Amino acid sequence: MRPHLDCVQMRPHVIVNCAMTADGKIAGKSRRQFRISSTEDMERVRKLRTESEAILVGVNTILADDPHLTVKGLSRDTAPIRIVLDSNGRTPDQAEVLNDCARTIIVTNRRCARTWKGAEVLRMGERAVDLHELMKELEARKVQRLMVEGGGETIWSFFNAGLVDEYRIFVGSMVLGGRTAPSPVDGEGFEDHGCVRLQLMSTQLLGGGVLLCYEVVRDVPPA
Ligand SMILES: NC(=O)c1ccc[n+]([C@@H]2O[C@H](COP(=O)([O-])OP(=O)(O)OC[C@H]3O[C@@H](n4cnc5c(N)ncnc54)[C@H](OP(=O)(O)O)[C@@H]3O)[C@@H](O)[C@H]2O)c1
Repeated sequence: MRPHLDCVQMRPHVIVNCAMTADGKIAGKSRRQFRISSTEDMERVRKLRTESEAILVGVNTILADDPHLTVKGLSRDTAPIRIVLDSNGRTPDQAEVLNDCARTIIVTNRRCARTWKGAEVLRMGERAVDLHELMKELEARKVQRLMVEGGGETIWSFFNAGLVDEYRIFVGSMVLGGRTAPSPVDGEGFEDHGCVRLQLMSTQLLGGGVLLCYEVVRDVPPA
């Protein structure tokens, strides 16, 4: 049973999904992509993407990994929309996320004037992208499930804004180390007593690693 009351949610259901090493890193100190997921986990991620209307990453992930964020077997019109948080317009013109295989939205702040061939641009927020405004826009576009794939700054912003419903983390069986290596949730961090509580919903061995699925525990609003 869910441990919290669900408010009527007029926004997409947000699932954070990422892969970390057994020592809690989502990439090494070079911040370049490093394969952590097993083949079985990659298949799970493919399925989760298929079931989502949109997939979101921060621009540092675009610059570090140049992911295409597409789903094999889905056409441009049926694939989830790719969304990049990019306040200052740093996404390179040749980024894979701008290819023709799926629709792409780049979200900048209101001061940025850059445009891209191959992407729709939304402008919201004065500095960083305003996530609450973005959620309203996605709700209006009938996005029911949003998958947030990283990196750590982006996932932190979603937690900090109270916008995460589920947290799914694959733990790969390796150690990377490095005090500057990114973790699933970076950002400023909460004060010790302000942490986000999670309820563990399931665990699964998945090709040499383990998948942990949590739901975010919401405070019961006062009567
Ligand atoms: N293992 C995994 O599953 C996985 C998945 C994804 C990424 N990664 C790794 O994660 C690393 C990148 O993560 P990262 O934490 O450096 O960056 P990130 O989360 O990918 O991107 C953060 C950037 O997005 C922009 N942004 C705009 N609005 C934002 C908002 N409201 N909240 C947060 N960011 C906003 C900011 O740049 P501007 O100020 O320029 O707009 C910010 O610095 C890479 O090493 C990558 O390999 C790993």
